Amino acid sequence: MTRKKLIAANWKMNKTPLETKEYLDSFSKPKDVDVILFVPYTSLHLQTSIILGAQNMYFEESGAFTGEISPSMLKDIGCNYVLIGHSDRRHIFNETDEDINNKIKIALKHNFKIIFCVGETAKERQNKKTEKVIEKQLESGLKDVPSLKNISIAYEPVWAISRGDSNTKPATKEDAEEAHKLIRDLIKKSYDEKTAEKIRIIYGGSVKPKNAKDILKMNNIDGALVGNASLDPKSFSDICNS
Ligand code: PGA
Repeated sequence: MTRKKLIAANWKMNKTPLETKEYLDSFSKPKDVDVILFVPYTSLHLQTSIILGAQNMYFEESGAFTGEISPSMLKDIGCNYVLIGHSDRRHIFNETDEDINNKIKIALKHNFKIIFCVGETAKERQNKKTEKVIEKQLESGLKDVPSLKNISIAYEPVWAISRGDSNTKPATKEDAEEAHKLIRDLIKKSYDEKTAEKIRIIYGGSVKPKNAKDILKMNNIDGALVGNASLDPKSFSDICNS
């Protein structure tokens, strides 16, 4: 089965609405790939032909949750895409697998399309725990989720995420492919072959114009989630066209 490539940008806490507008004005929509920009909440209302998504969302409908944002608030401004379980959320904001599962369930209830992130830390990889960690993140994150129709998965090894440091190295394409294959096999086991064949599994962690083509050509890699290199429209556009 051929899966259409999905190239997503995760801007994290970067760009004001004005800067976002300038970016959108100079970014031309690439053909033949799906593109989503996960921008800060304050830019989600901007009118554009590019799909904009939220980087997070709370798992309650409303209430005393100071500083959080609800699914209906996002829907009301036309946002239909959400990133869930990014490693910054897991490791800086202590989001647990259970929080992530609750977010996925409420997002599906509100008909969002989701990119669900998983990935091991450097220490877990050194201790040969990569498979176990990914399996647990998938199993817990997708608990009581009957269909993956609206979900894509991002494999983001934490040690390969640049966090703004352009010297960070991505996973080798072979290591990334191995993890993606593992994820697809686990999905086949928990769901079925058709679901596993259909779901897009994208890679994130130091993807840049110079390495994108190499990574994207692997069998089980269906796209990329790009942080640092997505902040410049030219560099992101080069990645989209790789
Ligand atoms: P990076 O970030 O491309 O800067 O490594 C990826 C991510 O955190 O999603």
